[in-house]
Amino acid sequence: VFRQASDASRSVAEQIAAMIRGRAAEGRTCVLGLATGSTPTGVYDELIRLHREDGLSFQNVITFNLDEYYPMQPEELQSYVRFMKEHLFDHVDIKPENAHVPDGTLSEEEVADYCRRYEGKIAEAGGIDLQLLGIGRTGHIGFNEPGSGKNSRTRMITLDRVTRRDAASDFFGEDNVPRRAITMGVGTILDARQVVLMAWGEGKAPIVAEAVEGDISTIVAASFLQEHPNAQVVLDQAAAEQLT
Ligand code: F6R
Repeated sequence: VFRQASDASRSVAEQIAAMIRGRAAEGRTCVLGLATGSTPTGVYDELIRLHREDGLSFQNVITFNLDEYYPMQPEELQSYVRFMKEHLFDHVDIKPENAHVPDGTLSEEEVADYCRRYEGKIAEAGGIDLQLLGIGRTGHIGFNEPGSGKNSRTRMITLDRVTRRDAASDFFGEDNVPRRAITMGVGTILDARQVVLMAWGEGKAPIVAEAVEGDISTIVAASFLQEHPNAQVVLDQAAAEQLT
């Protein structure tokens, strides 16, 4: 628990930078699972600063984002492809072919096969070394809404009403929020060798307490992280308020 989100973000970015540099020194790639939304932007800002001012290179980094709305065109305002470019990819030296975000432009018939191939690409890259996560008020990680099983894999899901309401301002009204999304599964996330879940602010306090201290169940996807051998929960004081 950190006093402020900014301190927490810097600490997470330093961990990631150390991992990237350690791997580079060994001539190996570093595979990162990335999240969008308001939570990780401070981490990305700090990684960009380390790239600009401290020589941190992303040449050996491969990334896989958790999710994307469906349908969604990459240039749209709310697209997670656009988000990642604006908040990270356009500002560092990652190879474009190494940055993966689920494709929201596919036809319905193509999605299932695409999701299998997304899983295949993660496996081909050697699996995810470190997965960054935020948490939704439904307890979702990625877009694994209540009901998502422990073994779920990358797939199309239906967004929860609460999630769509939380996204309403981004879409200028709840009615404009897509009803579906493509997301890595809980099982995909649990396969990452290390997981870092971050949450800031009092609005997240109730769901953080449920995820960390509540029953492990499909009602709160983040609760499955309790069973992960290397999961950290990084909070500011407000988000930690309801932990006992
Ligand atoms: C985003 C994602 C979501 C968000 C969660 C919290 O890629 O997978 O699980 O992390 O909805 O969103 P923010 O950070 O905007 O509160």
